[in-house]
Formats: sequence, C-alpha cells, structure tokens
Amino acid sequence: MTANSPLYIILLGAPGAGKGTQARLLAEKLAIPQVASGDLFRENLNQQTPLGLLAKGYMDRGELVPDDVTIRMVEERLARPDAERGAILDGFPRTIAQAEALEQALAQAGRRVACVPYIKVSEQTLLLRLGGRWICPVCQTTYHVLYSPPKVAGICDKDGSPLYQRPDDTEETARNRLQIYFQQTAPLIAYYRDKGLLVEVDGEQSIEAVHGALVAAITARGAGLAS
Ligand code: AP5
Ligand code: ZN
Repeated sequence: MTANSPLYIILLGAPGAGKGTQARLLAEKLAIPQVASGDLFRENLNQQTPLGLLAKGYMDRGELVPDDVTIRMVEERLARPDAERGAILDGFPRTIAQAEALEQALAQAGRRVACVPYIKVSEQTLLLRLGGRWICPVCQTTYHVLYSPPKVAGICDKDGSPLYQRPDDTEETARNRLQIYFQQTAPLIAYYRDKGLLVEVDGEQSIEAVHGALVAAITARGAGLAS
C-alpha cells in the first residue's frame, strides 16, 4: 500500500465502545472524513427526510435499520468528493450483508479496506458510558459526565452550544442495542479476523491511550501514516 492509496478503516465495536470519539480523532489525523451511519440517520431525521423518518422507528427501539437503505445511504456518502482519499467508517458495516456490499462497492473502484480495529470494551463499561454521554448538536463532539466532562456542565467547549442526550441512550434501549450488537454485529469480528484485517485494541484505556493504540495498529499495517 502506498501513501497515496485511498485509505478505508472500519472501526468495529459495541455501542459505547468509543467508535465515534476515536473516529473523529483519526479523521483529523489522517485528513479523511469520518463516515458514521448513525450520524447520517440522525442528520436525515433532523431534516425530516423520508429516510430519516423511516430510520427513526428502528433507532428508537435500538434495532438495526434494514440493510438495503443503510447500504445505499453509506455508498452515496462514500461517493462524495471529500471521501475520494478514503474514510474512517464508524457504525458501518454492522451485518455480514453490509460488509459484503461494502467490499463489492470498493472492489468495483479498485479499492479495499486497509484495516479493521476492533475496540473491545466490557458490557458493564458500555452501559456506564452510554448512560453518561452528552453530545454537541453543532460539532458532534461527545462528552461524558465522568470521563470527559465539558468545562461548563451542559455546554460544548468548542462552540458554546447546549449539549443533548441521545434518546436511544436510555437504559432500556441501550440494553437492547447491546443485545442486537451481540446477535447481528459481533459476527463481523470473526469475519474480518478470517480476512486478516482485524486488530484488537483495548478500549478500556483513556481516550488518548486508545487513540495511540489505534494509530500504532494502523501504522503497523503500513496504512496511511507515511507523513
Ligand atoms: P450509532 O449512532 O452508530 O450508535 P452505536 O453504534 O450504538 O454507537 P454509539 O454512537 O452509541 O457509541 P460509540 O462507540 O460511537 O461511542 P462514543 O464514542 O460516543 O447507531 C445508532 C442507531 O442507528 C442504531 O441503533 C441503528 O438503529 C442505526 N444504525 C446505525 N448504523 C447502522 C447500520 N450500519 N445498520 C443498521 N442500522 C444502523 O463513546 C460513548 C461514551 O463514552 C461517550 O460519552 C464518550 O465520551 C465516552 N468514552 C469514549 N471513549 C472513552 C474512553 N476511552 N474512556 C472513557 N470514556 C470514553
Ligand atoms: Zn460543539
């Protein structure tokens, strides 16, 4: 892989593992966009598009949105000019069918996934993280009441916007999301391990330490950090 090859990295991990937090840091470091399927659904919902309204029911229950609409939405996002050099995929793929569709779409353009870091976190920690999460609606920065609090409670450090909690972070829905993750998404761990792409990263360390481990894992695969 040369320094100029488009770089596709898939962050795998349960809800609350820190995919979004780490995807933002990596996107900045590697100068390629974060492509987060959950964020794309929430943007659609904010704009009241038919896709957003369709996704809402599934998201409110903590279930997965059907593969066909999800795949179409992500492929359309990856085709935009800012993703020409690659992307950090966060929350996609989440089923084997999505993984196969992604592989096919990339292959058609002569591209492929470079590496799949799996951010591993215990179930108990996941629930604590989801329960304390607050998000900025403007810049999408994620805070946590205990682990990464904003300087002023309830206010974004970067732009002063009031923070909000995601409706699917209630304990009941978060538990359902975890169950769905174990049933439908966890099989991707073996799928990518079999392809030789999986790199396991301990997600119970500090945000900075997880970032360091991810950068080391990506560099070890010779992917994208030549400069
Ligand atoms: P989505 O938005 O993708 O949510 P998720 O996968 O459930 O992941 P989260 O965003 O909850 O967690 P995260 O891993 O990004 O953690 P974060 O960095 O925020 O999906 C939502 C819904 O959309 C789904 O339920 C589904 O309905 C639908 N959907 C999305 N994609 C789909 C797809 N491909 N197919 C079908 N349906 C789809 O961190 C969590 C908290 O922990 C934060 O407060 C953070 O500050 C804190 N934290 C992070 N790292 C650390 C650390 N190292 N130490 C201490 N605290 C930390
Ligand atoms: Zn903000």
